[in-house]
Amino acid sequence: MQDAPISLTAQDVTFHYAGQKSLLEDVHLSVEPGALTMLIGPNGAGKSTLMKILAGLLEAAAGTVQIHSGPGGRQRDLAGLSLLARARTVAYLPQEVLPPGGHTVQEVVLLGRFPHQRWWTLPGERDRKIVDEALERMGVAHLRDRVFESLSGGEQQSVLLAGILAQQSSLLLLDEPGRGLDVHHLATFSQRLKRLARAGRGILCITHDLNLASRFADVIYLLSDRKIRARGRPEQVLTQALVAESYGSDVEVTRDARSGLPVVLPGSRRQEPRGGQR
Ligand SMILES: Nc1ncnc2c1ncn2[C@@H]1O[C@H](COP(=O)(O)OP(=O)(O)OP(=O)(O)O)[C@@H](O)[C@H]1O
Ligand SMILES: [Mg+2]
Repeated sequence: MQDAPISLTAQDVTFHYAGQKSLLEDVHLSVEPGALTMLIGPNGAGKSTLMKILAGLLEAAAGTVQIHSGPGGRQRDLAGLSLLARARTVAYLPQEVLPPGGHTVQEVVLLGRFPHQRWWTLPGERDRKIVDEALERMGVAHLRDRVFESLSGGEQQSVLLAGILAQQSSLLLLDEPGRGLDVHHLATFSQRLKRLARAGRGILCITHDLNLASRFADVIYLLSDRKIRARGRPEQVLTQALVAESYGSDVEVTRDARSGLPVVLPGSRRQEPRGGQR
């Protein structure tokens, strides 16, 4: 079982890569248990970088990243935790993942159990049961004996996500987890994330699929031009003005007639030259 609900907060985080200009300035972001939080923003805005800072893999030049457990619980710097304790608390799925080659699906997912194992023991009955459950949940149990590299892109992504589920961490940081998933798998996986969040996990997903964010996010953070430009419910963040300002003017935000949710479409109209003449 996972531990008590934990929140993760980055406060006043500032960051730049060596020799490069400032990428993040005074960024504040909170991953709260019970909520599915999504981070959006244009290519190169610094989303993956911010997630690596939240996962404790990069150090901010200024600001803090802290975890906080339960009512009355302590506030602790993430950096103060041992690597193993950190892995039990935070599961991180990078944007690009390459598991060690030649392993079966089952073995790759079993890697997700490493924070719960002792180095001198082999995976136990319980680990195998949790792995089987995670494979079932991601709909890839039938692939368990296949070599990972022989799977399609979407199947590989489902297996990696099963590994994340098997880690049973309180906080999930997922960098574009929906990549390669078809619309059915995307929907079932997103519903699963939502259920995990409701059961007390804190989940942060980076996504370029703004309609997915509209449908499933409880809270959206929009990162653009070094800052968090907006934070709120989908209808507060996915507005024509905010989306156009951050991504460019060739975007149309409308409302879905049935759900009332914002729908973001690539603009179909060509930008006319000034005066409308050619
Ligand atoms: N290790 C690195 N060293 C130097 N610069 C880097 C490094 N990693 C990323 N960058 C640069 O920092 C900027 C932000 O990169 P990052 O990967 O955080 O963006 P992103 O918002 O995740 O973009 P995308 O949506 O394309 O994944 C980019 O301009 C990138 O080239
Ligand atoms: Mg990225």
